[in-house]
Amino acid sequence: MNLTLSASILHASAHSNKRFFKKNLADNKKCSTFAGAIKKLPNCVMVALQILVLSVWVRILVGQQVKKVATLWVATFFIMIFCQIAKKHYLCSRKQLLTNYTMQTIDKYNFAGKKAIVRVDFNVPLDENGQITDDTRIRGALPTLRHILDNGGALIIMSHMGKPKGKVNPKMSLGQIREAVSKALGVEVKFAPDCAKAQEAAAALKAGEVLLLENLRFYPEEEGKPVGIDKEDPAYEEAKKAMKASQKEFAKTLASYADCYINDAFGTAHRKHASTAVIADYFDADNKMLGFLMEKEVQAVDNVLSNIRRPFTAIMGGSKVSTKIGIIENLMDKVDNLILCGGMTYTFAKAQGGKIGNSICEDDKLQLALDIIAQAKAKGVNLVLGTDCVAADAFSNDANTQVVPANDIPDGWEGMDAGPETRKQFAKAIEGAKTILWNGPAGVFEFDTFTGGSRAIAEAIAKATANGAYSLIGGGDSVACINKFGMADQVSYISTGGGALLEAIEGKVLPGVAAIKG
Ligand code: 3PG
Ligand code: MG
Repeated sequence: MNLTLSASILHASAHSNKRFFKKNLADNKKCSTFAGAIKKLPNCVMVALQILVLSVWVRILVGQQVKKVATLWVATFFIMIFCQIAKKHYLCSRKQLLTNYTMQTIDKYNFAGKKAIVRVDFNVPLDENGQITDDTRIRGALPTLRHILDNGGALIIMSHMGKPKGKVNPKMSLGQIREAVSKALGVEVKFAPDCAKAQEAAAALKAGEVLLLENLRFYPEEEGKPVGIDKEDPAYEEAKKAMKASQKEFAKTLASYADCYINDAFGTAHRKHASTAVIADYFDADNKMLGFLMEKEVQAVDNVLSNIRRPFTAIMGGSKVSTKIGIIENLMDKVDNLILCGGMTYTFAKAQGGKIGNSICEDDKLQLALDIIAQAKAKGVNLVLGTDCVAADAFSNDANTQVVPANDIPDGWEGMDAGPETRKQFAKAIEGAKTILWNGPAGVFEFDTFTGGSRAIAEAIAKATANGAYSLIGGGDSVACINKFGMADQVSYISTGGGALLEAIEGKVLPGVAAIKG
């Protein structure tokens, strides 16, 4: 075993070149697992291994002839240095893998006199007056945007907002956030009202100037899905082919605005769209790169997955089991405690024969809920499901409320939040944890009356974090919760990703990252 490890250490060093990194880029997971194993080795073990390697080498090279102790020690000295370098090279965190020299990196690129087109995720929540209610995603992109401007570049910012399905919809216009972006950047931001007809505005940009393009999804080419035709329609395949061709043209037009492309849209990195993936084909390897936010997010996922300190507690909320099933099954192999809360509580309650009144429920997922309970049992995972809830007689902040068992909700009432007993169980599973992942609220937190369950989760996470846990919060609603409670600075990391974060945690390759890695 030791010999194999020693040989691997030497092997890693011998290949600490382009080929080695390329191989590992294709196999991040293997590298981080192996790196994790080596990382844990104390230096004295490293030295012992090196001496072992030395003796093998000496025997191989000169047989049993070497008698001079001095020669042996000089050789040992050099091999020790050699092995330390090998160890350093093999400790390739995912961040290092993302920024190795086969890829351009934003900190090395010379932006002076260049135009940079940056894909950000400014799909921020707006209130009925078009005011931003949570600007986490804008703040998240600032380091990249500022870096380009501060280094003499001109900026073209592009994003989607909502799901306009290929049609112009003023309610989803990015014009609504232009002023907020200007304020955040401290620079006047010009606006291009048609993202595919911004050639002149882009050409006129000077160093230090900023142009924001209108919502990319006003064009169906952004998503690349044919509109107005059913999947069952025999003409669908033809329409899809035609759309893929015009998607390339659309991406080429966007690319023509700039000298280089940066993807900093982690929240949309799980989508293979014109601006997140296809566009990368129109830039050579030296002129496309990931932004700082993207690098930070990938590193945060790595912190959770490659360095799990136990107990590991995951909290999955939200209304549907169906949208979270992939991640729930994946987490089942990793976590010690799994809290399932929010609307899905009632699908579980009904599946187990409970009475749930008017509560939200996926009737076609009852068996799935029972399977999850069985899986948790088989894998020894402590599954925490709500036992009581705050029920309301209407879906409103001012509704009448009462605390009832989650499996005995009176007719005409619906579960809106976790009850006091449940909150205690949540806190118990969270407070002692050393790694925590939270996605999805425990109740209808948009209504102040029903924030109690989510607040109990946030408070327990803050407590655990203060005691040294690593806590990662992702998904628009949970992030909005943490911000609403003013507790953003009491957790380890807040991700700008929802679906993207979950897919990264499931171990899926994100197309937005893959497009740059090549
Ligand atoms: C999000 O909010 O999850 C991202 O902006 C991606 O949006 P989408 O789910 O509409 O692709
Ligand atoms: Mg989404």
